[in-house]
Amino acid sequence: MNRSPPVRSVACAMMLLMPLLAPPVHAAGAEQADVATSIVDALQRLGGPKTGLRKAHPKGVCFSGSFMPDAASAASVTRSPAYTAKAAYSVIGRFSQAGPNPAAADNTHDGRGLAVRLAPDGDNRMDLVLVSTPMFPAANPKDFLELLQAVGPDPATGKPDQARLDAYLAAHPAVGRQAAWQKSHPVYASYAATPYFGIHAFRFTNAQGQSIKGKIVAEPVGGAVGLDDDEAKARGADFLQSELAAHVAKQPAAIDIFVQIGEAADPTDNPSVAWPDERRKVHLGRLSIEKATGQECAGELFMPTTLTTGVEPIDDPLLSVRAQAYAVSFGRRVSGQ
Ligand code: HEM
Repeated sequence: MNRSPPVRSVACAMMLLMPLLAPPVHAAGAEQADVATSIVDALQRLGGPKTGLRKAHPKGVCFSGSFMPDAASAASVTRSPAYTAKAAYSVIGRFSQAGPNPAAADNTHDGRGLAVRLAPDGDNRMDLVLVSTPMFPAANPKDFLELLQAVGPDPATGKPDQARLDAYLAAHPAVGRQAAWQKSHPVYASYAATPYFGIHAFRFTNAQGQSIKGKIVAEPVGGAVGLDDDEAKARGADFLQSELAAHVAKQPAAIDIFVQIGEAADPTDNPSVAWPDERRKVHLGRLSIEKATGQECAGELFMPTTLTTGVEPIDDPLLSVRAQAYAVSFGRRVSGQ
């Protein structure tokens, strides 16, 4: 297993990130950067040491494969070559366990992640950075920071403070909404048999200049496959990476990528609220996972604000702070922290 990032790719990425890592000039920007850094500090304290690893989703496996755009369908909502190219192109990605624990068990209802870099050419890269629930447990960055602080030990005593956590949960129903969703869905049998969600709404614009608001959704081509509680227990805490390697050694695993189209009432500024399931979805293409590549993408940064031509943020307050937190985590992990 190779955990060392390729030096050249890290050096290049650090150069590109310098503007993000540099102190922001605006007061609002400085405040956001403080929140982002405090979130990464809180993640780093939770779930065990993560030296050199991602400060969230530290347990995971990289993969390589390809993406075949569904140009005929996708062109109705996007002009981006990422989704309208006529031929399949190579991709890299990573599956992961959500949360800050590098030893997180695979056989629980906790979230999973899927990151994929769609880059048909130099100018049209979009990183999809998705999780296995359609909602986030916090509506904005400040709530998320307070949640992480409430889950962690009280700084004064060094001990967990159940009363503080209960007070937070009572005042913030978003955590309960996500937990209820997770509980009502099974532990999935494979990374490639799990559905994933983009959570943030983006504006997608087609070649005619028409725009829609949409959220990325990823659905396993063979359907989601759940385990019952006994089966999940029997699989043990570490089955997902070997299952993926065995699966793709026989045949590629396929996941369809859609954009879910929002209607007027669907919020774009609150990632803790899922849009209704029955919203129309437009097929953008099919991801084919062909090789499990261990920790080969340890030196990569999948960035949720790397958006392709004609895909733009709307007004989600989480997105920019999220991006700053990824840059902080990346800076730390590639410098051995
Ligand atoms: C304010 C909100 C959020 C913060 C602060 C945050 C923080 C982080 C951090 C620090 C990392 C490690 C980054 C790295 O070192 O590369 C990470 C990874 C990840 N996050 Fe988030 N996150 C947030 C919201 C979300 C949301 C909304 C999603 C999904 C829709 C998500 C999905 C993921 C995934 C899949 C990874 C692993 C990426 C990989 O495999 O490289 N996160 N997150």
